[in-house]
Formats: sequence, C-alpha cells, structure tokens
Amino acid sequence: MTHFLDIHKTDPADLRHMIDQARAMKTARAGLPKGTPDAEQPLAGHMVALIFEKPSTRTRVSFDVGVRQMGGQTLVLSGADMQLGHGETIADTARVLSRYVDLIMIRTFEEATLLEMAEHASVPVINGLTNRTHPCQIMADVMTFEEHSGPIRGKKVVWSGDGNNVFASFAHAARQFDFDLTFTGPETLDPEPGLRDQITIERNPQKAVTGADLVVTDTWVSMHDPQSARERRHNQLRGYQVNEDLMRHAKPDALFMHCLPAHRDDEATSAIMDGPHSVIFDEAENRLHAQKAIMRWCLGV
Ligand code: CP
Ligand code: NVA
Repeated sequence: MTHFLDIHKTDPADLRHMIDQARAMKTARAGLPKGTPDAEQPLAGHMVALIFEKPSTRTRVSFDVGVRQMGGQTLVLSGADMQLGHGETIADTARVLSRYVDLIMIRTFEEATLLEMAEHASVPVINGLTNRTHPCQIMADVMTFEEHSGPIRGKKVVWSGDGNNVFASFAHAARQFDFDLTFTGPETLDPEPGLRDQITIERNPQKAVTGADLVVTDTWVSMHDPQSARERRHNQLRGYQVNEDLMRHAKPDALFMHCLPAHRDDEATSAIMDGPHSVIFDEAENRLHAQKAIMRWCLGV
C-alpha cells in the first residue's frame, strides 16, 4: 500500500517526481477557470474520503478541488460526526472506509491515529496534519521555493519560532531534498530530540537568519496546544517575530513563507507578509498542485 504518511518515510526520488509532476500539472492549467477539468482525468471513477478532526481551510478546499479537477469525487467528513467520535476504533473505521473509497486523507491529533488508519486500511492513506507533522504543506513549500528560486538543494532555510509539527516536516525535507535547515527559537520550544541531528540550532535570530535563502515561521499556538499556554508562548516567542529588521539579515532575494493561517503582527508582521519577500499565497495555491501529485503517486495513476 502506497501511503503518504511523512516526508522521511517517502523515497527521495518519489518526492522529486511528485514535485516535478505538480509543477507540470500547474503549468498545464495556467489561466483556466478553477473548475475546468484537467485534460487527463487520472482519478475518474475514484472516491476520496477527506476526514477532519481539526479545523481546516486550505487542506479541505485544496484536496476537494484537486480530486474534482482530476475527475474523482470526494466525501468531506468531520471526525466528530462519524462513529470515530463515539468510540468506534480507528482500525474498524479504516476497514469500513476501505470498502467504500479508494483513498483516505485524514487530519487528526495523535500520530497514532494516522498510523492505525494506515495499518488497517486497504487503500492509501494521506497525512493531512497531525500534532507531530504536516508533510503535504512542506511538499507545497518545496515546490514554491523551486518555482521562485531554483533547486532547493544546498540552500539555507531558517525557521524562526516554535519547533512544531510544520517545522518537523521541514526537518524531514531537509534530509530528503538535501538543504540546510537552521532552527531559531527558545530552548523551551525546541524541536523534538530525534530531529536535532538534521538541523542547526542558533538561539540568536539575527545570526540564524544571516545569509538565509528562505525564512519560515508559523503560528505560536498550534491547534493542539492548550489555550492556557498562549500568554507564556507569546512571551517566549516575541523575540523571534519575523519583521523587517530580522529579514534584513537574510539574502536580499530571500523568500518568506508561512503555511497559514497566520496571526498577523504576532509571528510575522503584515509588512513582511504582504512585502516583496513573501510567497505565502503561492504556497497556499501550491497545496492544490502538490497534493494532486501526491494522490496520483498514492494511487499509481
Ligand atoms: N496550512 C494549512 O494546512 O491550512 P489549513 O489548516 O487551513 O488546512
Ligand atoms: N502548526 C499549525 C499548523 C496549521 C496548518 C497547527 O498545527 O495548528
């Protein structure tokens, strides 16, 4: 079964194929109305379940639109409305869904839920974000970087802020796509220990960002973080805000990315988000194209 569970679990040649195919499919659709079917319809006759146990705008819409452009159909399901939310096991849910649909995308809390779904499904499973990782986002980010700045191999990427799930997938991508990744943030919000041998840690944000080709941040409080931690996190992370002073230390043509949703003027200022370095809306668009390539790879179509 060809699941897309995480970037470090996927062969680098396959990841490269998906990025190249995503770019080709994007080019082929340039200028067409969003509802125009793709010339090729590789998902014709396919049914895709999109399960959300957490809120989503980009993941929900980009998967749904992507499936339809490729000729397939979707079921968008909220975890709370399924028997999943009332105690049916993940394993049984996976077995049942596999009788109805050809592909499952799930956004959930615990990584264990995703892994149990994948273990018991007889159709491919895609990780649409867990507390631990967000691989579809980073596939779109690699694609976006390469569209603007050429091959990411050997480039310097700097993450400023919380060592969270999106960062973890960046760390996995650093190894698979062979770029340098620096983390800058408070020690209390460091990435998990298993990731630290793939990255450089620099506490001083200006030093970290010096010479960067790409500066990335994300929300200071993720969906799985308790709201009670909000004030403490803000106090710890304020010094790692991406603003014009910090961005001046990066290369003049450096890019700025944020997976969105953003809290403007917390983790990044509006001047940066709307400024000349920012490619945040290209990243959002490229979720669509990257995930179409991921689904094709999973289904072998
Ligand atoms: N970046 C991202 O995954 O956005 P959503 O939470 O809106 O899906
Ligand atoms: N780190 C964020 C990413 C949202 C797309 C979260 O998990 O809430």
